[in-house]
Amino acid sequence: IERLFVPQSLAGKKVLITAGPTFEAIDPVRGITNRSSGKMGYALAHAAACAGANVTLISGPTALPIPFGVGRINVESAQEMLDACLKYSPESDVFIAVAAVADWRTADVATQKIKKQHTDDVPCLSFVQNPDILHTIAQQPNSPYCVGFAAETEHVIEFGQAKRLKKGIPLLIANNGPATFGADDNQVVLLDDSGLHELPKQNKAQLAHVLIAEISNRLTKKL
Ligand code: CTP
Ligand code: CA
Repeated sequence: IERLFVPQSLAGKKVLITAGPTFEAIDPVRGITNRSSGKMGYALAHAAACAGANVTLISGPTALPIPFGVGRINVESAQEMLDACLKYSPESDVFIAVAAVADWRTADVATQKIKKQHTDDVPCLSFVQNPDILHTIAQQPNSPYCVGFAAETEHVIEFGQAKRLKKGIPLLIANNGPATFGADDNQVVLLDDSGLHELPKQNKAQLAHVLIAEISNRLTKKL
């Protein structure tokens, strides 16, 4: 029903979205992850499908159901998420990176459960940096229109613009992370070449429709 009332601004377009956290194993029973419910990415996938797009959602572990009309691919680690994105990005018109990708993974994954010591000794983990999925996709030849998200804890606009330029993307949607983690509402600013555009605080589902309209506008104007 909802899709009958939404302008079909992405009809015929293919949209690739990452959502949720990634999970980086330490051993078979433990890992490190990021805070992300997946709500914003899933809401965007739903809104893009309502706007007529063919949507592929590459999702880290979340508790959310697959949005109606969306194709979901489940992944766990950042490397798996990158591999899936590289597979689908060549055919995509738009790439929206909403996932909270773990910046680091452990240098080695233990094949067996690491046992707690009876002394006070604790394991020493060493980390390596994960690939930057958004930057990698943005650098591909004929890359899709790339949109990033940034959850900052301070200097949202300044850090957001610097991040957008570093990633080489036309549009970045920034917010104050801890204020919205897991919440149903979100307040964001759009950062692009022309500066900033603040959107009112609203429900993530509503906001997703507004963001899809902003993205499809920019896509047609090639901003
Ligand atoms: N991102 C990504 N791959 C990564 C890290 C981030 O695709 N390895 C994407 C996120 O999905 C988001 C954007 O890049 O769209 C910004 O993520 P963020 O974590 O804010 O940026 P980082 O470059 O990792 O910077 P930092 O965490 O140091 O602020
Ligand atoms: Ca990061």
